Amino acid sequence: MRLETDRLILRQWEERDRAPFAAIVGDPHVMRFYTRTRDRAAADAWIDKMIAGLEDGGSAFLAAERKSDGALIGLIGTGRVDIPLRGDPPEEIGWVLGSPYWGHGYAPEGARAHIARAWERGLPELVAFTAAINAPSRRVMEKIGMSRDPQGDFLHPRIEEHHRLRPHVLYRIANPGRS
Ligand SMILES: CC(C)(COP(=O)(O)OP(=O)(O)OC[C@H]1O[C@@H](n2cnc3c(N)ncnc32)[C@H](O)[C@@H]1OP(=O)(O)O)[C@@H](O)C(=O)NCCC(=O)NCCS
Repeated sequence: MRLETDRLILRQWEERDRAPFAAIVGDPHVMRFYTRTRDRAAADAWIDKMIAGLEDGGSAFLAAERKSDGALIGLIGTGRVDIPLRGDPPEEIGWVLGSPYWGHGYAPEGARAHIARAWERGLPELVAFTAAINAPSRRVMEKIGMSRDPQGDFLHPRIEEHHRLRPHVLYRIANPGRS
């Protein structure tokens, strides 16, 4: 799967992405809304999982490459929801970018291309969720037209009790062609 926007190419993962991806997910500032950073082995395993998801159709978490210089800026994609959420939505949309690339609207730009593709695939809706305190990610959800579903707030089942990242918020967007 490959998508193109004005400034980005969203594409399959390649060997050359492994080092820059490990630098992104090994950065404590990038990962401050995750429970831990990833070392090289864990970053490689994350890429392997995204490749497997692309091959079996379970997910489309793609490498995001900047057209102007070929830099890997991070990941943007969609995939099956693997935790219980209100209304049993089929797929989520998500993003992780390296900090040098923040603030340029790249995440919303890539996400919009994925949303268009999801509607072409006939999906009824997409959701996104993040730690309630992750303001930048929530801004991206708002910018791409998602609406908060306050009744869908939840405590992340894989984060320990009382952890500051455990309370999560849920956002949704419906396929306009299916309403
Ligand atoms: C969330 C994320 C993908 C946003 O990507 P982006 O391409 O920078 O998105 P935008 O340029 O539209 O900026 C979105 C918001 O990020 C915040 N932001 C922008 N630049 C920032 C910076 N340098 N430092 C901190 N926050 C910043 C702002 O709140 C901005 O909202 P605004 O445009 O209304 O000011 C990026 O911040 C990121 O990768 N964060 C770490 C990983 C993560 O938390 N992923 C989500 C997990 S659910």
